Amino acid sequence: MAHEILNPLNIIGAIIQLLQMEEEMPERFKPRFAEVMEQIRRATNITNSLRIFSCRHQPEISEVDIHALLDNTLALVRHDLELDNIRVVRKFAPDLPTVAADSDQLAQVFLNLISNARDAMRQSEPRRLTLATSLVEQGVGLAVRDTGCGIPASELSKIFDFFFTTKDPGRGTGMGLAIVHSIVESQGGFIEVSSRLGAGTEFFYCSTQ
Ligand SMILES: Nc1ncnc2c1ncn2[C@@H]1O[C@H](COP(=O)(O)OP(=O)(O)O)[C@@H](O)[C@H]1O
Ligand SMILES: [Mg+2]
Repeated sequence: MAHEILNPLNIIGAIIQLLQMEEEMPERFKPRFAEVMEQIRRATNITNSLRIFSCRHQPEISEVDIHALLDNTLALVRHDLELDNIRVVRKFAPDLPTVAADSDQLAQVFLNLISNARDAMRQSEPRRLTLATSLVEQGVGLAVRDTGCGIPASELSKIFDFFFTTKDPGRGTGMGLAIVHSIVESQGGFIEVSSRLGAGTEFFYCSTQ
């Protein structure tokens, strides 16, 4: 299904790019074409997220070492975080038990939370991303904490909704936390958020088995 949308989008994008390179293109059309490209990019982003979401296989449950998975996930984004001058603080609890989970899906959860934290700290200082694990009553916990812009109280109940985004088109799709929520629920865990406007946000994930 996603392919049927992505293919025409790719073709349209390629044609627009060719037109943009046309020497005889009148100056006054250029911003219009740039806007069309931006919208194509946006539609592509959303379709890609939908694909990841809808193609989700039945969870493949195994015993996951949360610390190893976090470090693997961090390795994927370390470069981006460094570019944004974000300091990463790992507070890993000793002797943390493994959790029964689908490691690909859990990696997706961590990636989404880290990517949101990164966006939230774009305009603020200091920029610190803390990943803190713990063994709590219900199971293994992970707090993803940032020193970013925070979330207004009036938006807290909406952030897990599909397509809720406060970001510019092209930057945000509003799919990240909806996917996070659905993955966490399907694996029998929970996720909570607490935030202070202008100070930062913490997402607390807990795997309950
Ligand atoms: N760490 C965070 N700090 C501040 N706001 C956040 C954070 N994480 C999520 N949000 C808010 O929740 C919204 C939805 O997030 P998400 O579902 O990942 O979509 P997207 O990142 O595409 O906007 C964001 O647009 C933002 O307003
Ligand atoms: Mg996001």
